[in-house]
Amino acid sequence: MDFLKSYAVLFEEELQNINFPQKPETLYQPQRYILRNGGKRIRPVLALISCGLCGSGPKEAIPVALAVELLHNFTLMHDDIMDQADSRRGELAVHKKWDEPTAILAGDSMFVYSLLQLQNLPAQVDHKKVSKIFLNSINTVCEGQAMDMEFENRTDVTLDEYHRMIEGKTGALISSAMQMGGMCGNADQEQLGQLSLIGHSLGLAFQIQDDWLDVVADPDKFGKRKAGDIYEGKKTFLLLSALERCSEPEQKKILGLMADTPLSDSEVEEVIDILEMYNVIADTKEHYLEYYSRAEKALQQFGDSNYKQDLQHLIKYLKNRES
Ligand code: IPE
Ligand code: IPE
Ligand code: MG
Ligand code: MG
Ligand code: MG
Repeated sequence: MDFLKSYAVLFEEELQNINFPQKPETLYQPQRYILRNGGKRIRPVLALISCGLCGSGPKEAIPVALAVELLHNFTLMHDDIMDQADSRRGELAVHKKWDEPTAILAGDSMFVYSLLQLQNLPAQVDHKKVSKIFLNSINTVCEGQAMDMEFENRTDVTLDEYHRMIEGKTGALISSAMQMGGMCGNADQEQLGQLSLIGHSLGLAFQIQDDWLDVVADPDKFGKRKAGDIYEGKKTFLLLSALERCSEPEQKKILGLMADTPLSDSEVEEVIDILEMYNVIADTKEHYLEYYSRAEKALQQFGDSNYKQDLQHLIKYLKNRES
């Protein structure tokens, strides 16, 4: 991601400046820990580039970049409890390194640190408008997460419902990061509409690819347990596609296994065999690449600039990501 280094360097410097207090240790140490463990920083970089795309220097969007990355990390702390996931970014998840109560409270505090960043928006930026976009998107993330959990206990989830769920849990924040970044660059309504559209497509692509990587990725690179979603009975794009295509006995088989989580290693193997039998893994890649193409197409509406090129490169990097 060399071409993005300047954004990443700018962002990491600013992140260092957030001085979490030393005590209470159990409140702040987990926040430092999750931020130190890396992550791709996609959302802040998207905010910075979007600001540039709309005509200001990316620095104007630093408060937004910080807010979205802190918010994202907070959602991960709680998500790993909800998904009973033990590893994140190649390290123990916060609730495993400490415990669940610690991860809940550290997450809550990180949420507040996220919102506090918007106090530092440049004076010319409409604070109220930016906050409204941000707060609404956060609630949409919660709606998506609620649907995601409800789906675990349902056997009749449709692919349509799945798409609505990921628009919430993943698309909303990616889209709001871009819109808020644009607002810091004085975007007009048309530009905001385009940014929202690009963010929406990127969010869908990103999450379907995340489901795909769950099965396909090298866990050492991906930083999460291989097939963790299948072990936990998650209704991913791959699983729902398989259910749509397979025979009734196979449907019963999969749903039966998914009803009693966590699955055993051999049960996970059985599910993966069915995914392969119905070509679901290859077709899922086609599906998320289609959403990346939509994002690229929407980006064409912007006039040529270095920022446009940077975003094109970023999309290309995302398409090939292994983590
Ligand atoms: C993980 O997001 C959660 C999803 C929405 C799939 P990222 O893949 O952006 O996680 P990091 O920040 O790079 O670790
Ligand atoms: C995460 O979705 C979405 C949010 C954290 C809001 P996932 O549950 O698929 O993310 P990973 O796979 O744990 O990173
Ligand atoms: Mg989840
Ligand atoms: Mg998860
Ligand atoms: Mg996932």
